[in-house]
Amino acid sequence: MIVGVPKEIKNNESRVGMTPAGVFELVKNNHTVYVQSGAGEGSGFFNHDYQRAGATILDTIGQVYAMSDMIVKVKEPIAEEYGLIQKGQIVFTYFHFASSEALTKAMIESKSICIAYETVEDEDGTLPLLTPMSEVAGRMAIQQGAKYLEKPVKGRGVLLGGVPGVAPGRVLVLGAGVVGIQAAKMAAGLGAHVTILDINMKRLRHVNDIMPPHVVTEFSNEFNIRKHIKTHDLIIGGVLLKGAKAPNLITRDMLKDMRPGTVIVDVAVDQGGCVETTRPTTHESPTYIVDDVVHYCVANMPGAVPYTSTVALTNVTLPYVLKLANTGWRTACKLDKSLGKGLNIVEGDIVYKEIAKAFQFEPVLA
Ligand SMILES: NC(=O)c1ccc[n+]([C@@H]2O[C@H](COP(=O)([O-])OP(=O)(O)OC[C@H]3O[C@@H](n4cnc5c(N)ncnc54)[C@H](O)[C@@H]3O)[C@@H](O)[C@H]2O)c1
Repeated sequence: MIVGVPKEIKNNESRVGMTPAGVFELVKNNHTVYVQSGAGEGSGFFNHDYQRAGATILDTIGQVYAMSDMIVKVKEPIAEEYGLIQKGQIVFTYFHFASSEALTKAMIESKSICIAYETVEDEDGTLPLLTPMSEVAGRMAIQQGAKYLEKPVKGRGVLLGGVPGVAPGRVLVLGAGVVGIQAAKMAAGLGAHVTILDINMKRLRHVNDIMPPHVVTEFSNEFNIRKHIKTHDLIIGGVLLKGAKAPNLITRDMLKDMRPGTVIVDVAVDQGGCVETTRPTTHESPTYIVDDVVHYCVANMPGAVPYTSTVALTNVTLPYVLKLANTGWRTACKLDKSLGKGLNIVEGDIVYKEIAKAFQFEPVLA
């Protein structure tokens, strides 16, 4: 198969769909890989790295799309890319169709095969191609939170780890899922006191089993949240209700109970956030202040660490890329049920029920 890796053209996107290691594996399996010149630069991978791994570098995005059977990328195609996608071409990337009718219509018209990272689903309901980005965001939440607790950026002036003779900072984590556990782990590693809340007892039992004793689990309810926000320095929002807007666990009136300079990192901002005063921010201007509480609400946190994010993402996408290339999309999706769930639009038909529902189209069974 001929596999193409274009450069991402969405604003501020530095990740790339394949690393030189991925190229190496594909070439070893007798496939051809075309990489657009400069595609990996934002993540620290240069043309010569790809060439050494066996790729051919092409000058333009148009050439990559025109010459490839399968496109492997990161972000959903933007308007400039719609016309480049070919009939029968496999496009393997994040799509998030339900949030864009224009993209959905364009991909129907293209008659391509759209396989979405975000709907590839394992038997236990986990989403293996979303997990690494939650891991990155959860770990990064503590790094960012620690920074914004510093006084010059309006934080409380607290060092999370404390020092001998001074108590460590206190971190409250809402949600013990992927984001929450990674955040708790980083905070605990710095020596902070951590309280982690969830409504799922299985998750709390798991955290209790694996974390050190200065990570304390409690059930998530309004009473406990109101109690803890008064005494914690950094609050991480990592809750998720599948397919729904995040619940507002911290309401506007609660901000006045927090000490000035408390920092909230609402990672769940991409689902509306779990704090009433959350609004999406960008890496250029990541924070704002409401009632003396610092809010960090960047909707694409992994974008700030493209090297780590690219490698983490491609580690999990490559096995699927290899299956698609080795056996073709029909066989690969039939044999691997998780991958099959990634099929969203096939040659003009929506085959994923929720997307058809979002735009009142009739789904066609895959
Ligand atoms: N901002 C970013 O850059 C970024 C990056 C990655 C993920 N995210 C977002 O982070 C959020 C969390 O993702 P995840 O992968 O950890 O999800 P997850 O499903 O692994 O975990 C969510 C947890 O929230 C818990 N929860 C639900 N309601 C709750 C409540 N009322 N109180 C406490 N806990 C509650 C669930 O039981 C679950 O354990 C998602 O919205 C995801 O989209 C954002």
